[in-house]
Amino acid sequence: MSWIAVCDVSQVQEEFPFSAKVDDAEIGIFLVEDQYYALEDVCPHAYALLSQGFVEDGKVECPLHEAVFDIKTGKCLREPGGRDLKTYQTRIHDNRIEISLIEE
Ligand code: FES
Repeated sequence: MSWIAVCDVSQVQEEFPFSAKVDDAEIGIFLVEDQYYALEDVCPHAYALLSQGFVEDGKVECPLHEAVFDIKTGKCLREPGGRDLKTYQTRIHDNRIEISLIEE
């Protein structure tokens, strides 16, 4: 499995996720209960970045039409999200967050 460094751990806070561009993919890096999660960042409904959404209790609300997704699982909890989000494995290496682009 190949790992790609996307940002420093200091760049991600619970209320302020990080938006990373990896190849052509936009990936949101979220922090929930001291764990980092990587999800596709573009809402499946239309074009909005979920990393710019409202984060609360391990969920993120899309800033455009208020679909809600579970950050740990990518599950769509409220429409109009349309489907679950792709999720990616993360790990920490030398204070850098790395992701694997192979979907979980
Ligand atoms: S773009 Fe996210 S709910 Fe419409």
